[in-house]
Amino acid sequence: MTTTAKNYTRRDPVELHDVRENARKLAILYTVEVEIARLAGLWLPKIREMPEKLWLGRMLYEDAEHAMWIEKRLEELRVPPDLVATFRTRTAPAFKAMEETDDPELFMRGLLLLVKPALLADYQRHIEACPPYVDDPSIRFLKRIVEDEKEHLAKGLSLLASRASGHALPAGALWDLSARSGDFLKGQFVGQEPRPQPMPNWPQEVEHLPAVAPMPLYPGDFKGDMQRVAHDLVFSELEAAEIFARYVYEYHQCPWQFHYEAARIAWDECRHVELLLNVLDRYEGRVGQFPAKAPGFEEFMQLKSPVERMIMVSVIAEGEVSTDTQTQHRDAFRQMGDEFSALLKDYEMADEVSHGQFGERWARKFCDQMGEDYDLAYENAHAALERFKAQHPEAEGESAIPLVRLGADEAGEKRTINVTAKRLLGYSDERIRKLVAESGGRMVEEDTL
Ligand SMILES: [Fe+2]
Ligand SMILES: [Fe+2]
Repeated sequence: MTTTAKNYTRRDPVELHDVRENARKLAILYTVEVEIARLAGLWLPKIREMPEKLWLGRMLYEDAEHAMWIEKRLEELRVPPDLVATFRTRTAPAFKAMEETDDPELFMRGLLLLVKPALLADYQRHIEACPPYVDDPSIRFLKRIVEDEKEHLAKGLSLLASRASGHALPAGALWDLSARSGDFLKGQFVGQEPRPQPMPNWPQEVEHLPAVAPMPLYPGDFKGDMQRVAHDLVFSELEAAEIFARYVYEYHQCPWQFHYEAARIAWDECRHVELLLNVLDRYEGRVGQFPAKAPGFEEFMQLKSPVERMIMVSVIAEGEVSTDTQTQHRDAFRQMGDEFSALLKDYEMADEVSHGQFGERWARKFCDQMGEDYDLAYENAHAALERFKAQHPEAEGESAIPLVRLGADEAGEKRTINVTAKRLLGYSDERIRKLVAESGGRMVEEDTL
């Protein structure tokens, strides 16, 4: 009798999976990634702590991307796309529990102590069963996934360590890679009936005011006013991240490509939060120094029509307005001699262009799919936005500071129309002319290279 030392990985050809078995297991891992991304979308606006929100934003994107890679490979392994879609309509009991609870401890502990370690182990096992040569395309992305998952665990566990220990989910509530269909609950999934959340939850130290409440006056000195502006911007980026996280949690009628792109936007917005936290830091401000509001999130959650809310956020607020706002902010920083902030803002503007392109692309497709008239939905979304804005008091003044002076800059002579950005969004000259006429703004062209 011989004993084999377990110091190397033995490959038993019989244990290597064939195309069907490979696809069957990848389909299970696909469901898991989709459900985790949806849960991250639900929890990003729910969890209070800023570092956890920002970590979830990155994880949300990476897990949505993992699902995208697996989806592509499943199609290569001869799984028809409509069958792939059914893998997004099943779940594990643990995921439902993490959706239904309001306890962030339970979510974080379930994710980090149960779900992610089991997922990492399954990926490792899967890689070990991949046949050489023929399945290298799987191995290539699976190795990248394993690296990402390790990072999610490392950072997530460090965040969890700062929380008090609480309840954990029972281990039996997961999926099973060896069971034919993964031992999932069929016909149920996270976000099937999205749980409403009228306002996002923000860090304890922030006084979170409802959108209709007045904001206090600006402090009135340069440093104080700059702190206030940066503080406002941190929270407007945060609410954007929270809205796009909800896109991933909701809209299950859409293909995964939509969620994958929305997840990227949520992560972009989290990075904008980080860059603005850096600006706030450099002007010696701190989170919680002022009250903050989330009018965009509140509006988004109040609008009933899924098509109209998508147009309101992605076509109007992001494409039509935000590409100009970021241009104005960048130029205002430059005028103040703050080149570093201007550089960060220019990158942010680049992100806004792709966010607007996302809106132009998906809002129309979604309208067609839902059998709604795009122009009518656009008119309604526009009217709803105007109505909401009329309810929000604004504290602005004739400040000497360019950035403060901008205020809510969607109309009038303060509005700059970045024509170059609008062309990248696919606006026709006619549409640009109309926008200029209606907003009363001034056109600028930019050198792109
Ligand atoms: Fe942003
Ligand atoms: Fe954006």
